[in-house]
Amino acid sequence: GGEAHVEDFAFSFEGPFGSYDQMQLQRGLQVYTEVCSACHGLEHVRFGTLADEGGPHYDLDDVWDYSANFEVWDPELADGDGDYRAATPADKFPSSSLNTAPDLSLMAKARAGFHGPYGLGINQIIKGMGGPEYIASLLTGYEDAPSCAPEDFDGYYNTVFTAGGYPNECIDEDGNHMYPGSWISMAPPLWGEDVEYADGHSNDLHHEAADVAAFLMWTAEPKMNARKNAGLTGFIFLTVLSVLLYMTNKRLWAPHK
Ligand code: HEM
Repeated sequence: GGEAHVEDFAFSFEGPFGSYDQMQLQRGLQVYTEVCSACHGLEHVRFGTLADEGGPHYDLDDVWDYSANFEVWDPELADGDGDYRAATPADKFPSSSLNTAPDLSLMAKARAGFHGPYGLGINQIIKGMGGPEYIASLLTGYEDAPSCAPEDFDGYYNTVFTAGGYPNECIDEDGNHMYPGSWISMAPPLWGEDVEYADGHSNDLHHEAADVAAFLMWTAEPKMNARKNAGLTGFIFLTVLSVLLYMTNKRLWAPHK
């Protein structure tokens, strides 16, 4: 026991050539909207970015319709007294409505799924930091509490969450946790078939978890596709430049050899 089990999901955006899957981001937004947003906010994400290329890439008209479902406080309305109005693409998502639920905008970068071995971080070089894997694994990581735990122990047993409470009854003589993970205060938010996907994609628990995790990776790094494209362009440019410099060098020195 002890170690948490983060599953290595195969996301489309992994590796130097990986990119976001537009349809997966749209499904993830649907899960966020229908389930997570009841408690969690996305206060750093502007609605308008949902229309950006390299992201969910909705039509701007659809983004207007979507943002209109949210209300924002506008201090300039009502002659400066302020009032609520429908959000527009220029506004940001609301912050968390449940104040114990953390904002999810940057969560995929705030958590790591992979560690070690031996504090060397080699797993992170090979598999990536694992932020989205952590989120997807957390959402699929609920299990029946082990029998050592008192019936009334606070929270929900999760094999991936390590920052929560842990009953003394489940710690052995050497002080080691007998079971992975800990007790989290978030009730299992996903069970499978929680949403009916607009694109008809499978809505089993595993897919819903992966889709919302991918969406949260995009909110944390919305320019990833553009960054990788620029990196590839630079790499090709430098490769070609190196070949030309090599040939120029040969030419220049040829008469002196
Ligand atoms: C914590 C994701 C739905 C309440 C968290 C964390 C994540 C997360 C990533 C942080 C875990 C950590 O600190 O490592 C999600 C997703 C949801 C969802 C993706 C939708 C699929 C909900 C709902 C509620 C909720 C519906 C409220 C009913 C909380 C609370 C915490 C939390 C209270 C803090 C848990 C603790 O620190 O013990 N959630 N959540 N979440 N969530 Fe959610």
